[in-house]
Amino acid sequence: MLHALEQIRRMRGGAPSHLMRCSDGLYYVVKFQNNPQHRRILVNEMLGTKLAARLGLPTVPVAIVEVSEELIRLTPELTMELPRSRIPCQPGPQFGSRYPGDPRQLTLHDFLPDEQLREVENLHAFAGMLVFDKWACNTNGRQTVFFRRQNEAANDAAAVRYETRMIDQGFCFNAGEWNFPDAPLRGLYARNRVYQGVTGMESFAPWLERLESGMTERVLDEVSREIPPAWYEDDYDALLRLLEQLHRRRSRVPELILEAKRTNRQPFPNWV
Ligand SMILES: Nc1ncnc2c1ncn2[C@@H]1O[C@H](COP(=O)(O)OP(=O)(O)OP(=O)(O)O)[C@@H](O)[C@H]1O
Ligand SMILES: [Mg+2]
Repeated sequence: MLHALEQIRRMRGGAPSHLMRCSDGLYYVVKFQNNPQHRRILVNEMLGTKLAARLGLPTVPVAIVEVSEELIRLTPELTMELPRSRIPCQPGPQFGSRYPGDPRQLTLHDFLPDEQLREVENLHAFAGMLVFDKWACNTNGRQTVFFRRQNEAANDAAAVRYETRMIDQGFCFNAGEWNFPDAPLRGLYARNRVYQGVTGMESFAPWLERLESGMTERVLDEVSREIPPAWYEDDYDALLRLLEQLHRRRSRVPELILEAKRTNRQPFPNWV
C-alpha cells in the first residue's frame, strides 16, 4: 500500500481533496473517508475508475493511500473546509487518483474551449465515456482533465496535442445512494463538440462490446475485492447488490444512449 508523505495543496471541489506526494515518489489527489459527500464516494472512485479502465477508457491510475495520524497532526492544512466549519481529515486508507505527471511541470486544464477541443488526440474516447457513464448512472456531468503530452520527437509546438483523462467517478451509482435514477441528459459531457465524431450507434460499438463481453461477474467480483471494507462500512451485502445491478444493466446502455440522442439538446449533431 502507498503512504502519503507530504501534503502539497488543497484542491477545490465538493469532496475537498488534497494533492499529496506519496511513497512511490508520485503525486495523488486524495479524497478522504470523512468527506462531506459520502464515504461511499471512495468506493465509487475506485470501482468506477478500474471498470472504466477495463473498458479501454483513458483513466488515471488509482490507489489506496494510507494517511497516518502523525502526518495529519503535523500538517495543519490537512483539513476539509465546509461552509460553516472545518474538520480534520481522517487517518487510514484513503482514495488516491494519480496526477498524470509532475505537478510542478505539467499544467492541467479542467476545461478547454471548443477551438482547442479539436486538438485533443483521444477526443473519440468521449463516446466510450458515455457508454460507461450511462452504465454507471453517473449523476454528475462527465469530468476530465486535459494536458499537453510531452512528445520528444515533436520539435514544433503545433505537433504537441492535448490528451484527456477521465477523473471523478464519485457520483457514479448515484453517489452514496447506490441506485440508478436514469435520465436522458445524465452522464453527458458539458460540450457537444466532443461528440462530433459520433455518426450512429456503431460509434459506441467498441465499448458496448467490451461492456457486454468483458464485464463478467468474475471481473466485477475481482475489482470489488480490492476495495477497503471501511469505505462501505463493512456492508458487503450492499456492495454485492450494487455489483448485481451493474451486471444486469449492461444490456440497457444502447437504449439509454438513444434516449440521450432524442433530447432537445441534440448531443450528436452528426448522427445520421
Ligand atoms: N488525478 C488527478 N490529477 C490531477 N488533478 C485532479 C485529479 N483528480 C482530480 N483532480 C482535480 O482536483 C479537483 C477536484 O477533483 P474532483 O472533481 O474529483 O473532486 P470533487 O470534490 O468531486 O469536485 P467537484 O465536486 O467540484 O466535482 C479538480 O479541479 C480536478 O481537476
Ligand atoms: Mg468533480
